[in-house]
Amino acid sequence: MSSAAAGAKDAAPAELQGIRAAGGRELTALLDRADRRLAQIAEGHGRALGRHATQTLSAGGKRLRPTLVFLCGGAAAGEGDGLLRAGVAVELVHTATLVHDDVLDRAALRRGHPTVYSTGGREAATATGDLLFSRAFAELAATGAAESVTALSSASSALAHGELMQRADAWSGSVTIDRYLERCRLKTARLFEAACRLGALLGAPGAAAAERLGSYGDRIGLAFQIFDDVLDVSGPTERTGKARGTDLLDGTVTLPLIVARERDPALRSLDLRSAVTEPAAAEAVCDRIAATGALDAARKRALAFVAEAKRELDGIALDHRSRHALDLVADGVVERYS
Ligand code: IPE
Ligand code: IPE
Ligand code: MG
Ligand code: MG
Repeated sequence: MSSAAAGAKDAAPAELQGIRAAGGRELTALLDRADRRLAQIAEGHGRALGRHATQTLSAGGKRLRPTLVFLCGGAAAGEGDGLLRAGVAVELVHTATLVHDDVLDRAALRRGHPTVYSTGGREAATATGDLLFSRAFAELAATGAAESVTALSSASSALAHGELMQRADAWSGSVTIDRYLERCRLKTARLFEAACRLGALLGAPGAAAAERLGSYGDRIGLAFQIFDDVLDVSGPTERTGKARGTDLLDGTVTLPLIVARERDPALRSLDLRSAVTEPAAAEAVCDRIAATGALDAARKRALAFVAEAKRELDGIALDHRSRHALDLVADGVVERYS
């Protein structure tokens, strides 16, 4: 077995094990094939780029987006190569954005390992991300499904806009909840939406179900990013693998802070750029945000999106096992710790 395949399995947290069990042997088989294909793709592009690409892909990750592709395609009903390529393509786009995101965030660790940025520098990380993007589209184009390529391309463009929006709003004291949600949609939910849409288009449900499955993906993507932002404030670091307050140090204004500003005048007048310049200060602001009850308010918002997502699944002709597993995915995005 390739190192990428081993890495993905080892990294699967408890809530994913349940989803995989619900998806059955067909889902596990597709995820294993996707891992082998990802390892092949990483290794086939020259020594330096291959090393960097392998480093990222073999570090594992939850493989949540390929899981969505396969389940929305009715993986439990057993589907073929088109779904496999789509799952691989979506994970490649996701990994590419993480490699680039780590350059923007100057991050040292990703998936528990040193980032390409920290071992190879910004040039290597930029080129590695570009390579992963280009392989994603080659993989999907091989299915001959133009509509799917368009869907993934549109999600990738959204990601780029989302990252730019996040930079534009850095340190801002006036980010509204609507603008925050728009950013979450662009940088996270659109790729979840595309994963589900591709599953529908290339799998058993077909084009008729693509809209609703896409909308399910959009809602869990929003819940996923909100919850990610809650974990950044709540920690604990031992369970999230990330230092508390990383977003604050970056100037990234997320829902917990937006809500807390409405409730605590001292937070409203706090200038992040000058007040939060080192980790201890970030942790102190995290405590202050938590004291306002803003974390519960943000969790409630995420749960409301999960409920909406599940409602989208009603009325779609999906095999029983895939449907059950998709319900578990929706619950899992707000129960995870990493
Ligand atoms: C991380 O996504 C980036 C966000 C959208 C918050 P994941 O948490 O799915 O990352 P991996 O693939 O498991 O590493
Ligand atoms: C992850 O966003 C990258 C994209 C979704 C493009 P974040 O910056 O919120 O996620 P982490 O915390 O680095 O995983
Ligand atoms: Mg980041
Ligand atoms: Mg970021």
